[in-house]
Amino acid sequence: MYKEYRSKARQIISKMTLKEKIGQLNQITITPYSNDMDKLKQLIKNGDIGSLILASSATAGNDPQGHVNIDVYNELQKIAVEKSRLGIPMIFGRDVIHGHRTVYPLPLASAAAFNDKLLEKCYRNIAVEALADGIRWTFSPMLDLCRDPRWGRIVEGPGEDPYVGASMARACIRGFQGDNISDPDSIVACAKHYIGYGAAEGGKDYFHSEIGDATLYNYFVPAFRAAVNEGIATVMSSFNDISGTPVTGSRKYLTDILREQLGFEGFVVSDWGAVAQLQHMGLAQSKKECAQIALNAGVDLDMCDYCYIDNLESLVEEGKVSVDTIDLAVERILCVKLAMGLFEHPYGDKKEYNKLEHLNDARELAGESMVLLKNNGVLPLNKNSKIALAGPFMKERRSLLGTWTLDGLEEETTSFYEAIVEALTYGEVFCQEMSGLFDNSVYIASKADVIVLALGESHLTTGERNSVSDISLSKSQIELINKMHTLGKKVVGVFFCGRPLALEEVEGKLDAILYAWHCGSETAHAACDILFGDTVPSGKTTVTFPRKPTHIPLYYNTTSSGQPVNGYYGENPEMNYTDSLATPLYPFGYGLSYTTFEYSDLTIDKQSLSLNALKQGEKIIVSINVSNTGNFDAKETVQLYIKDKFASLLRPLRELKAYKKVFINRNDTVKVDFELSYDDLGFYNEKGEYTVESGEFEIYVGENCLTKNKTNVNLL
Ligand code: NOJ
Repeated sequence: MYKEYRSKARQIISKMTLKEKIGQLNQITITPYSNDMDKLKQLIKNGDIGSLILASSATAGNDPQGHVNIDVYNELQKIAVEKSRLGIPMIFGRDVIHGHRTVYPLPLASAAAFNDKLLEKCYRNIAVEALADGIRWTFSPMLDLCRDPRWGRIVEGPGEDPYVGASMARACIRGFQGDNISDPDSIVACAKHYIGYGAAEGGKDYFHSEIGDATLYNYFVPAFRAAVNEGIATVMSSFNDISGTPVTGSRKYLTDILREQLGFEGFVVSDWGAVAQLQHMGLAQSKKECAQIALNAGVDLDMCDYCYIDNLESLVEEGKVSVDTIDLAVERILCVKLAMGLFEHPYGDKKEYNKLEHLNDARELAGESMVLLKNNGVLPLNKNSKIALAGPFMKERRSLLGTWTLDGLEEETTSFYEAIVEALTYGEVFCQEMSGLFDNSVYIASKADVIVLALGESHLTTGERNSVSDISLSKSQIELINKMHTLGKKVVGVFFCGRPLALEEVEGKLDAILYAWHCGSETAHAACDILFGDTVPSGKTTVTFPRKPTHIPLYYNTTSSGQPVNGYYGENPEMNYTDSLATPLYPFGYGLSYTTFEYSDLTIDKQSLSLNALKQGEKIIVSINVSNTGNFDAKETVQLYIKDKFASLLRPLRELKAYKKVFINRNDTVKVDFELSYDDLGFYNEKGEYTVESGEFEIYVGENCLTKNKTNVNLL
């Protein structure tokens, strides 16, 4: 991918001193120099800084951050380009995660949209807005799969499924990087956190993860493999250790797997301070040793911990790091800088963009991301209704934007209350703050046709370093639901959340549940579009909703146990837990519509096929008819799962292998076709070798992972 830039990079390297080379491997933030910019300028002039991160703290996701001042960064760039000896431009990176000024749904939410084209379009918009602030590199997409919703960062990733992870990786990268990272509307993306960070024990951020190699290859690697195949230019190494090996110090993960097996050619940046952490973890005795281990493992750019800049020269003198290793890291960084056209266009341009169009796209994506979990007929609401609105999120703005919102503005975000007022025609909305006059809410609610509760969790309980030990709804919100339920009116719960909450306790007391997530700038409008029927809900969750917090981990792509008593996904209640039913409250892939869909005529074009023919490229065609039998034109995400019945490595009872989101007019039927190929039916062994084994495969096609529509194919 970078072939054409390699010789140019090497030419530059041949002119560089060792110190200048090490400077290219150093990324810092300007914060420590804000009172001494002259010192920073001198460092840039000396060639000591290859990259600036535009953030003032390591956990920028939830700490307030200043906005980017393009003029300041252009001035600093001018020094690198015009005053440093070799004129190598710096690359500026920022956490533009799920939006810039316009904020889109958090990744866990947007995964539920199952709409790759729309996602790509939105991520292109994000790139355009970031560029307008001079940002040419983002630390996104985050591709960490997670089976423990206590982890605050589950919200930043695709959920619990590798196929969804891979699809999201491709869509986001296409959006950010376009056809070419040198295009004027493209920015460089970064696949993170490589790898296994989402397996943090107990959902505690940064914690140890225990991952066997087969699970690594089949579960955690696919999204990164897809990212590499899509041309991701950079990868961030993760904080965690895997079974005692810190990833940031591991040649196995960073070089053998990432580069040699997956074929990654761009550069690896450490997470913030992850190199220095090797000392705290007990792998290295000093920062110097951290630098030695990380560089030799394959970390090219050291984010914000000065391990490389302070130590690599002496490590070279001592023969612990070779100049060749340094040259290789510099070459990778220069290749990306050359490929993105940074040498020709080092400066940020203030550009105009169509904010309204971006907001419309954000609203559309938010509308497709929200998941209708329950509806006993109360939704959609009439715009002439008298609505009693209560709950802690009715006037909240910041949380709707979600964690990792560095540039979206709370004051530009419509609250749920405002959006309801906007949406109503002749209706009325009465609202009551929960605190203080709590009993008034009952009085107010008793005058209404319907009660809408704005429930959920703060963005400050999600994101980096913000895990929770209990995914229940807060006690006061449960109390509010109980109180409203006793009034005998219809009660609708709208949940503004960053993770699946365990809702069994309240589910029966709500007539409808709309999971609105933290969907960014247009959360409130999109939720109202659904509530009042302007948008027919079509989101399907990519994480399992457990009944109780104590049922974690609960995920759909589990293998079968030796005793047939457990059943799929917690069936056979008496055998899982003696005190509760362990099936999910809402399974993976689940989401309701205002219409109804019927699936019929599942067909497969062949009952059997030789493994060899499959390998040679022959495909298996699976088709199903989907009829819209209700009263609304609507979209449905048709999902295909496989089960490899007998294999040398236990295979999941269901594995998502394809999906299609289709629009179906009411009373219409569409035929949905899927193609299965060699790449869909196999798995990786613990060495990372792909294999497809002969035998019987069950194929399920339907509305979620519990679908009963089944056919078979035999590989001979
Ligand atoms: C730490 C986070 O883990 C990572 O996701 C982020 O990109 C960096 N900080 C930079 O802010």
